[in-house]
Amino acid sequence: MLGAAALPSRRQAVQWFLRFVAASPLLSQAPAGAQERQEIYWPDRLPPLDGVVNALEIETVAEKSLPKAVYDHIAGGAGSESTLRRNREFFDRITLRPRVLVNVEGIDLSTTLFGQALYSPILVGPTANHKRLHPEGELATAAGARAAQALMVVSGRSTQPLAEVVEAAGGSAWFQIDASDDHDGLLRQAEAAVEQGCEAVCLTVGASSPIPSRRDIHNGRITAQAHLASGLTAHSAASISWPHIESLKQRLTVPLLVKGILSAAEAQSALDHGVDGIVVSNHGGRAMDGEPATIEMLPEVSGVVAERVPVLVDGGFRRGTDILKALALGADAVLLGRPVLWALAAYGPEGVERLLVMLQHELALSMGLAGQPNIAGLSRSLARVHSR
Ligand code: FNR
Repeated sequence: MLGAAALPSRRQAVQWFLRFVAASPLLSQAPAGAQERQEIYWPDRLPPLDGVVNALEIETVAEKSLPKAVYDHIAGGAGSESTLRRNREFFDRITLRPRVLVNVEGIDLSTTLFGQALYSPILVGPTANHKRLHPEGELATAAGARAAQALMVVSGRSTQPLAEVVEAAGGSAWFQIDASDDHDGLLRQAEAAVEQGCEAVCLTVGASSPIPSRRDIHNGRITAQAHLASGLTAHSAASISWPHIESLKQRLTVPLLVKGILSAAEAQSALDHGVDGIVVSNHGGRAMDGEPATIEMLPEVSGVVAERVPVLVDGGFRRGTDILKALALGADAVLLGRPVLWALAAYGPEGVERLLVMLQHELALSMGLAGQPNIAGLSRSLARVHSR
């Protein structure tokens, strides 16, 4: 692990930021709303990696590089995409209080989860099928994450062997599994992942039978017939309930997180059943349309958890200030979904590294401006949630 010394000083970070703002006049012209697009400042060709200045621009490059159906499948959300949009929109309802004249020399992003020291609270979240975006698939993602000293949560739907992904990640990773009706199979999968070096297991709930994406139907990924029938077919994880989670937890030798919690009541159930960590997630708006934004529900979840277990969150994180808002509202770490996929598709492992480093620097910069030199000192008073 690099120490905090690897981060820029506040002055350097401000200079870095201003240089990029100056080089990108379109920065201030992003249309309001959820599908915030960031045009790239390279009219005739795709920019080189050091020509993109934020996560949203990387998405634009990926969109221009990928077949439409692939881009749409990743970018899209369930149903009318209202949850997908809300994940981004709600960030605008939260403001940060700056604090001036506080010594913020040597900003330190480091944190600890389950006793594991992390360079920063920005993690690579679990997403499936990376080979569709890069020939090396998850190995390339893991190499990028490792270069940025970021922890990777490997999807149970990885297209590369888990042991190799863990090795590419530097020997340390977490594993994600989807809830399923095969309860013994879940345990076997989780135990195999632990044997292959995974230091925590993250069970995804509430996403096994998502409302289909309209984009996928129109692009022919899902037939309209299958779409109509999907509501009547059985859920693939219809029988799993909290007692199963409790028995899985008891048999595992590493921490078990549940990903897909969106309310204080569910967080309480997770605590009651011995879960070691919670991921506030609506699966990037890809499961049930109409769910609230994750950042919206974070305060009530972190309130009930009251620091008894780590609370992580994902959904729409694209800027350092988004991440700072979540940390202020009680999150211990933030997971990135689509941005990592866009970076992988557009620029391979170097893109993943750059995405993560840019967000680390953006977070460091905003912490400096907020008068907060370290993660442990971040508190609720830093963020204000407005009713509209
Ligand atoms: C996902 N997500 C996901 N989640 C999970 O637990 N296992 C998985 O295999 C996948 N696969 C997956 C594929 C694609 C293409 C996307 C876009 C998402 C959900 C993911 O972990 C995360 O919850 C969201 O992507 C977070 O939102 P953002 O960062 O994409 O806005």
